[in-house]
Amino acid sequence: MNERNSTLAATPIESSQLPQADRGAEHMQGHWVLAQLGKRVLRPGGEKLTKRMLAYLPIAGKRVVEFAPGLGRTTRLILSAGPAGYTGVDRDEQVVKIIGPLAASVGGSCIQADAAQTGLPDESADVVIGEAMLTMQSERGKHAIISEAHRILKPGGLYAIHEMGLAPDNIDESVKDSIRKDLARAIKVNARPLTAAEWQTVLESEGFEVLWSGVEPMALLKMRRNLADEGIGGVLRIMRNVLTHPDLRARVLEMRHVFNTYGDTLTGIAFVARRKA
Ligand SMILES: C[S@@+](CC[C@H](N)C(=O)[O-])C[C@H]1O[C@@H](n2cnc3c(N)ncnc32)[C@H](O)[C@@H]1O
Repeated sequence: MNERNSTLAATPIESSQLPQADRGAEHMQGHWVLAQLGKRVLRPGGEKLTKRMLAYLPIAGKRVVEFAPGLGRTTRLILSAGPAGYTGVDRDEQVVKIIGPLAASVGGSCIQADAAQTGLPDESADVVIGEAMLTMQSERGKHAIISEAHRILKPGGLYAIHEMGLAPDNIDESVKDSIRKDLARAIKVNARPLTAAEWQTVLESEGFEVLWSGVEPMALLKMRRNLADEGIGGVLRIMRNVLTHPDLRARVLEMRHVFNTYGDTLTGIAFVARRKA
């Protein structure tokens, strides 16, 4: 294995290096609870939906910006596809420390910034990718980040997102409200998933046209998904951590209860959209 490939191979991340490691389990955001337990794929549609989405993106030889790389699982997929440049943008200092060395292995970097205000030059990217980060923004925050993706992309550049969806499109407003309240309580994040039609509208309103969209079940805490995303060794580690950390276990059971309550109403949904001129 050459130096670049060995850096791209998964390096173990110590739990003390993870974001919010200094908070008690009851105050941690849900995705960092899952990360403490050993999960590394922190998005609703799993790596399967990520790979379906990436299949629509030309990455080799392109300048790629990744919003919210988290623990770097998609970063590794992007870097191994041979981009001409890579910049990660995450607001969390710990994430920047984790992603920085990975990005540096291809001459790229990871900056600590809000994805709504990256400071990157206009029209400097061919592809922008962001997963599991828009759902947790307010309506205004979603628009600000999508507008920033538009600003940094060259005309015709592609923006790919992978988020939490609601189905069907005509879902009752009262159900949406209960989902938001229950998610906020369980994951300690003001998550606002949208229907497929709403995601499309928000992308279009910021100057994008949707080229592709795909859906996978929201199975973040299901065994089959975890075997696919984390492997057998990862699942065993997660199970051991669940058994030995009652405070984290209580959080994860609460999250699972909410996800199960809403069943197929919650989905993982991805879009690839093109910046209009
Ligand atoms: C649920 S994790 C998803 C991580 C990774 N994309 C994945 O799918 O596994 C959310 C990530 O979004 C980052 N994030 C949330 N809001 C952000 C913002 N406004 N700007 C930059 N990063 C943000 C968090 O720091 C965290 O790394």
